[in-house]
Amino acid sequence: MQGLFAEQLKALRARSLNRHLREISGAQGAEVEFAGRRLINFSSNDYLGLANDSRLRKAAIAAINEFGVGAGASRLISGTQSPHLRLERALAEWKGTEAALCFSSGYAAALGSIPALVTKDDVALLDKLCHASLIDAAKLSGAILRVFPHNNLRKLESHLEWARREYAGKRLLIVTESVFSMDGDRAPLRELVQLKKQFDALLMLDEAHAVGVIGLHGRGLAAAENLSDDVDVQMGTMSKALGVSGGYICGSHDLIEWLINRARSFIYSTAPPPAIAAAALAAVNFLSSSKGEERRLLLWKRINLMRQLLPPSARKAINYQLSTINSNEGSAIFPLLVGDEHAALDLAAALKTEGFLVPAIRYPTVAKGSARLRITVTAAHQEDQIKALCEAIKRLSAAS
Ligand SMILES: Cc1ncc(COP(=O)(O)O)c(C=O)c1O
Repeated sequence: MQGLFAEQLKALRARSLNRHLREISGAQGAEVEFAGRRLINFSSNDYLGLANDSRLRKAAIAAINEFGVGAGASRLISGTQSPHLRLERALAEWKGTEAALCFSSGYAAALGSIPALVTKDDVALLDKLCHASLIDAAKLSGAILRVFPHNNLRKLESHLEWARREYAGKRLLIVTESVFSMDGDRAPLRELVQLKKQFDALLMLDEAHAVGVIGLHGRGLAAAENLSDDVDVQMGTMSKALGVSGGYICGSHDLIEWLINRARSFIYSTAPPPAIAAAALAAVNFLSSSKGEERRLLLWKRINLMRQLLPPSARKAINYQLSTINSNEGSAIFPLLVGDEHAALDLAAALKTEGFLVPAIRYPTVAKGSARLRITVTAAHQEDQIKALCEAIKRLSAAS
């Protein structure tokens, strides 16, 4: 056993593609305690600063006191504890759908639902930049897989024409994201809905980085564009703007009943702790309130400041050859494309020395040679912290 992976690990290190765990002592927030130092945290998806919010903490503690820590078994085996059902009712109401079902993570929501929706001889059509959970789920489903270039509607249309011709009568499933996790741009949802109608396909939308961020009360892109009824499967996670953990699918009563019967990551996995469901419910309730909407608008102030301080034109002038990947940044995610993996790690390390935690994202999360820094801004950041980061990026880049 000894030395079994040594060569492979050496090869990863040689290409700057190795990863390691970094200990944070303390809660997530705009600042984190990292190896004895306080760093300003631009790495988290806790967009609204709820991960350590007192309302959520109180809800979790109260649920622990009432329901204990563990859920005992799968919800189909040992019964469903009330917090899960309360959360699902609130999610459905918030998202404007008939029903909702919770999973232990967003990854599990994808992995359970896509294979329940399509199978052998059906066709799954995925955007090239879809998250790993969606790709893995589509592979697991056994359906024929077609990947279309990022947000390329013409190519998607030709795949759909092909699929309808070759697999007449079979189910077609288009899968995409509202906000792409490593690029921060949005899907052209209205046009996708038109295509799904034209080809009688199903549309699944992963709203992981849109809920809490986009649309009134953070209901996400489908609701913001008034297209909730046209998106058959609305997926999301409570691990990002909602500050907790756990995935969900929102949709029709029939869809949810089908998933309860067929989604293997739901059926064959112990339910998430009831305290997690209670904390997530507190997050949904907060988002639905006027205070929650105020917090979301504060996030947009921070996003707009970041856009203003580091516009695409400024980034192109930088010596590290940083550039934006796209200009449609309707989200809290700001990718700075560096390209080379070593250079991305160097820049992340230099920023850390200056007191900023910004992750370098490399293959296989993104394509080879498209390494980047992924900056996320949150409502918890102070204006000065964002200004300081942008100055440091400009200074370090010019000196390189
Ligand atoms: C777009 C997208 N979908 C799904 C997931 C998985 O969600 P979770 O972290 O809750 O498993 C993530 C994040 O990890 C993501 O970025």
